[in-house]
Amino acid sequence: MILLAACSLLAGCVHTEPVLKDVFAGKFILGAAINDAQITGEDILGDSVLIRHFGAIEPENCLKSGEVMPVFGQYDWILADKYVEFGEKYGLEVYGHCLIWHSQCTPDFCFDEKGALISPELLKERMKQHISTMVGRYKGHIKGWDVVNEAIMEDGSYRESPFYRILGEEFIPWAFQCAYEADPDCELYYNDYSMHEPAKLEAVINMAKKLKERGIRIDAIGFQGHLGMDYPDLALYERHIRRVKEETGLDVCITELDMSILPTLTRSADLGEMSFAEAMSNPEIRARMAEKFNPYANGIPEDIYKQWNDRMADFLNMFVRNSDVIRRVNVWGICDSDSWKNGWPIPERQDSPLWFDRNYKLKPFLHDYLYGR
Ligand code: GLA
Repeated sequence: MILLAACSLLAGCVHTEPVLKDVFAGKFILGAAINDAQITGEDILGDSVLIRHFGAIEPENCLKSGEVMPVFGQYDWILADKYVEFGEKYGLEVYGHCLIWHSQCTPDFCFDEKGALISPELLKERMKQHISTMVGRYKGHIKGWDVVNEAIMEDGSYRESPFYRILGEEFIPWAFQCAYEADPDCELYYNDYSMHEPAKLEAVINMAKKLKERGIRIDAIGFQGHLGMDYPDLALYERHIRRVKEETGLDVCITELDMSILPTLTRSADLGEMSFAEAMSNPEIRARMAEKFNPYANGIPEDIYKQWNDRMADFLNMFVRNSDVIRRVNVWGICDSDSWKNGWPIPERQDSPLWFDRNYKLKPFLHDYLYGR
């Protein structure tokens, strides 16, 4: 019954369209991040769009250290194995995200039982253990890994993560070296957001050059494409994509593409030192934030939707124009209801950042791309 409903809904809106991954073949690989319901096959509609239109997958969460290894050294492989099997079953390229990240990290990865940072030697040992376990388990099955995620800040300084506090910059080459040793044929990437920030780009380029000078394998830089309506500047983003290639010889992957249609969240004056989570637990502040940052609660006005589609079309055309550098474009979710941007950080916010809408229909910019305006 459910399957029938899924088929009739899709027959009307998706299955008559050309296959997107074929449209971009020869330019870049088109991938999507998938969530747990898609991995387990519960999201029948999402899976049918995925299998038809995308040629590659990344897991939204299930390979992050805190998910697959809730306590250091104790793995729960159920979802992770299903993720890889799912990709192979449908002939998709399977990618890994992410080995070393300060967030969604196993709580005791960098700490001893008293909560103190562990020694540099022990951290190196633990990193090697975790990385070789993950990469080794899926050797020959996962085509490329985000080895280190988000280690550099917008101002070009290194993030003061526990990994950095214990090992300094050296934690990055160490992670790449361990990944290479576990599977010498696997592609290895550094992945980060806000790559339009000049100081950040500079620091990422320098870090990548140092890896290459030391003969350590790195294949591409992942530009997390978390875009907004007012950032980044498209020409600047394009220049930065090309600079990576020119200055390091590395390719770029657009790894986490989504474009929020909602106003960009800024810290309002009344938040002070408060985190967004704390602010959201205060009903007065939450209502004030919602008023300012959730203007389309009753529906997205047509002109705003058109602006979003025009801007996403500009980015897509830019990716195609630079397909000599861009290896893969990976959308961060299949349809709008999948996106992490819904409800973040204002619980009632509903966003529209992806390529398929809540009814699994292609957004107008893609329709125009396929059929011409
Ligand atoms: C970062 C991570 C992703 C995802 C997003 C949204 O970009 O790399 O895995 O968690 O944040 O939360």
